[in-house]
Amino acid sequence: MCGIVGYVGSKQAQGVVVEGLRRLEYRGYDSAGVALAHDGTVAWNKRAGKLANLEKAVEETPLPESTTGIGHTRWATHGAPNDVNAHPHLGRAGRLAVVHNGIIENFAQLRAELEAAGHELLSETDTEVAAHLLEQEVAAGTDLTTAMQRVCRRLEGAFTLVALDGQDPERVVAARRNSPLVVGLGEGENFLGSDVAAFIEHTREALELGQDQVVTITREGVEVTGFDGTPAEGVRYHVDWDLTAAEKDGHDWFMRKEILEQPRAVADSLLGRRDASGLLQLDEMRLSDGELREIDKIIIIAAGTSFYAGMVAKYAIEHWTRVPVEVELASEFRYRDPILTHSTLVVAISQSGETADTLQAIRHARVQRSKVLAICNTNGSTIPRESDGVIYTHAGPEIGVASTKGYLTQLVACYLLALYLAQVKGTRFGDEIGEVLDQLDEMPAHIQTVLDAREQVHALARQHLGTRSVLFLGRHAGYPVALEGALKLKELAYIHAEGFAAGELKHGPIALIEEGLPVLCIVPPRGRDQLHDKMLSGIQEVRARGARTICLAEEGDDSIEPYADELIRLPRVPVLLQPLVAVVPLQLFACELATAMGHDVDQPRNLAKSVTVE
Ligand code: G6P
Repeated sequence: MCGIVGYVGSKQAQGVVVEGLRRLEYRGYDSAGVALAHDGTVAWNKRAGKLANLEKAVEETPLPESTTGIGHTRWATHGAPNDVNAHPHLGRAGRLAVVHNGIIENFAQLRAELEAAGHELLSETDTEVAAHLLEQEVAAGTDLTTAMQRVCRRLEGAFTLVALDGQDPERVVAARRNSPLVVGLGEGENFLGSDVAAFIEHTREALELGQDQVVTITREGVEVTGFDGTPAEGVRYHVDWDLTAAEKDGHDWFMRKEILEQPRAVADSLLGRRDASGLLQLDEMRLSDGELREIDKIIIIAAGTSFYAGMVAKYAIEHWTRVPVEVELASEFRYRDPILTHSTLVVAISQSGETADTLQAIRHARVQRSKVLAICNTNGSTIPRESDGVIYTHAGPEIGVASTKGYLTQLVACYLLALYLAQVKGTRFGDEIGEVLDQLDEMPAHIQTVLDAREQVHALARQHLGTRSVLFLGRHAGYPVALEGALKLKELAYIHAEGFAAGELKHGPIALIEEGLPVLCIVPPRGRDQLHDKMLSGIQEVRARGARTICLAEEGDDSIEPYADELIRLPRVPVLLQPLVAVVPLQLFACELATAMGHDVDQPRNLAKSVTVE
């Protein structure tokens, strides 16, 4: 939700900043802007629409040379996404520029105060207030770092602010509260970014910042303080992926690339999880076996696709550990006064590690003295930092807004957590756990088999151009897969899509069935005869009412053939692991249908990858 870049060094800042924005554009793409320190003032340009509009504008009319700059790509909160509301915002005299991610909750009060003092604010944004307040401070002789500390103490809400002062051109100052910001450490240059993608081209050394901190970057160094000015230190880390991971690498869309990367991502997430004696080990867990043995209830909280990963986790954890699991949307959890004790484990699943609702939910849980474990793909992000333990997924950077490899690796982490709990609590024998781990090790090859057969799914998707509604049916672990398949289609193709538990058909959804309605059915493996046969009945019922059934069923399952208008084969895998293969054709279907409709699958309308505001 909004991408932010800052740079001080010896290169031309315009190029560095705009390139950084290109890599962060997935965070928001309503408008974009850049500001450079130049000749005692600020040179800037900003444009509504995608970054390409800004790139064109600065190509036609380049900004003056400068080695200090900031930039922003926006997902609108306050004010429509037009040129005026685009960032940067300037102070009254135009000597200071600010970019911002988040929401300043007391902005109306601050705006009224400024207007009463004769300030004229040009935009509808909350950000402009910060620009005026900061400029007021520096105009009175305060240095920018101190000015930032003072202003932040007056702000309420969640924000990352990055500012430059044209009359102090050798530094960029930033602050964060409940909103992402990392520092990139270079040689004779330093960077700021909403995430490391902003500067990965230049450096893989990064500095993680804490809450309520102000950071000043110059060519020579980086200085961190609290909002009260007390010196502080960031945590240095090395980014273990490189530029190629953040590039399309010959693919037309990041999403397509990320779907195809899934076998590798799943293999990476499984790597190094067994010790020499074959026992499962989770290095970054940080929760002791004693603490885990005491856990008598698990609540999984997440948003979007991560929530659906959590729903699959419930089936696995309860089956292997017999510990009761609740799965809840983070946005609901926070406001319903959940029952938590010191023996409740709250598991927060978040690809980005920055989703505002999930972050607030874990804070609530920790206040109630529950242990919090994060499942996260982003090193240095806030959710794992504020959790008691973490299992990192190793998907590499996910740029496409709709999560694909992020989801599959979350599933892997959930299975690992379930098995680890079973090992620690002794609810499964070691050889049973070993057997599932062996089956997991086979999953990358199975996922590859599904990908190799993608042309069938692509052709099917193209046949559905013009479809206005699609239903998805699943049972057991296939039910969350149905929900995820429907979400993908909504996000990417903007088509009405709904996922249902097949057992619920007769309680309402069957009324939606009409002649020709496509219904995608995830058929459980045959090893679970009851589930499988009940699913078959559901498929027959919708087909009898005119639905066009597209069935995903395992190799060798002939019983499905009479009831499937289209049959997509899945490799034979255990029922609990089936989501890892079953979701892949649904991702391919949504991606192909959306691109055939002419949609931008990397940046679907109205969405942002990381929702850092409530
Ligand atoms: C947004 C993204 C989704 C993602 C969800 C949760 O809605 O568009 O793809 O699943 O946020 O994000 P998280 O980073 O917490 O997994």
